[in-house]
Amino acid sequence: MKAAVLKGFGPVENFEILDVPLPRPGFGEVLVKVMASSVNPLDYQVRRGDYQNEVKLPVVTGHDISGVIVELGEGVINFKIGDEVYYTPEIFNGQGSYAEYHCANESIIGIKPWNVSHLEAATFPLAAGTAWEMLYSRAQLKINQSVLVHGGAGGVGVYTIQMARAMGAIVYSTARKVHHEFLKSLGADYTIDYEKEDYTAAILKLTAGKGVDVVIDTLGGNTLSDSAVILAQMGQVVSLVDIEKPQNLIHAWGKNATYHFVFTRQNRNKLDELTKLIESGKLKPVLNRVFALPEIAQAHSLLEFKQGDRDFYGKIGIEIGK
Ligand SMILES: NC(=O)c1ccc[n+]([C@@H]2O[C@H](COP(=O)([O-])OP(=O)(O)OC[C@H]3O[C@@H](n4cnc5c(N)ncnc54)[C@H](OP(=O)(O)O)[C@@H]3O)[C@@H](O)[C@H]2O)c1
Repeated sequence: MKAAVLKGFGPVENFEILDVPLPRPGFGEVLVKVMASSVNPLDYQVRRGDYQNEVKLPVVTGHDISGVIVELGEGVINFKIGDEVYYTPEIFNGQGSYAEYHCANESIIGIKPWNVSHLEAATFPLAAGTAWEMLYSRAQLKINQSVLVHGGAGGVGVYTIQMARAMGAIVYSTARKVHHEFLKSLGADYTIDYEKEDYTAAILKLTAGKGVDVVIDTLGGNTLSDSAVILAQMGQVVSLVDIEKPQNLIHAWGKNATYHFVFTRQNRNKLDELTKLIESGKLKPVLNRVFALPEIAQAHSLLEFKQGDRDFYGKIGIEIGK
């Protein structure tokens, strides 16, 4: 089968499309013909060598799959040949999604929502799965609570906004001005231009000094310490990103705050919950650009571009199977 193989950590040129052996399904595993994948920051972080202790070269990376089951390993009880499924391959354990076929344990795959294409479905598992863990599993957001979603125009942001809205929350989001109308169409009640406004001042003004119940941190930097300033009493911060330098959380005591740190985990239950949201129309795909597998370098370059003026929001799809 063909796969995009990363031969060395570093620039996008280190990918090569090669013929590699077809994987064989072990006990409890299915073999999936991969129809589509999508690109996440984790993919370019792996490529440039941020996880050299976890990843052995050469590697086929990639963290989203939508495809069709073509073979069952022994002991598979929940799926059959022909089922359309979507999932995130186990992170840092085995082959990733940039390949024509992939083997996965049945415990981490879910039935693909019927109302989206494979390319659209592949945009959900990592980004929307993480949003689900943050809002449902960790913050347990309640109706009429307020939530600030940082990076609302990003892959995680576009799904977190929709989900928070579906949960009945009041949604604030930071993004560049050019994306504000789109984020409002997804369900954001208030948008803050991170290039022109100090978001802490904006949140305190918009909430008349009360602050928000939940902050979703997709940014890092000083967000952990700044969040404590704009939290309501008993507020929560959910962070997805590494802390580059120590932060002073003194204001967190004053707010009786709770901090959650999330590194997404794979399981079928989460995908089944996403499928319900997608099939009911509460969670819509935001597929902005599509590349073919041999164009993986361009896809990485687009997502990684951080000059503040990239003409991009939402997710990038990778078309693999036909
Ligand atoms: N821990 C986990 O399990 C987990 C899971 C998923 C993702 N993540 C991490 O979460 C982060 C976001 O992921 P993603 O898929 O959403 O990435 P993404 O698609 O690249 O989106 C990032 C978004 O943040 C925006 N942004 C940049 N600087 C900002 C600022 N100062 N204020 C507000 N928004 C800003 C970007 O907007 P512009 O276009 O204006 O630059 C972009 O829309 C990444 O670091 C990723 O590694 C972690």
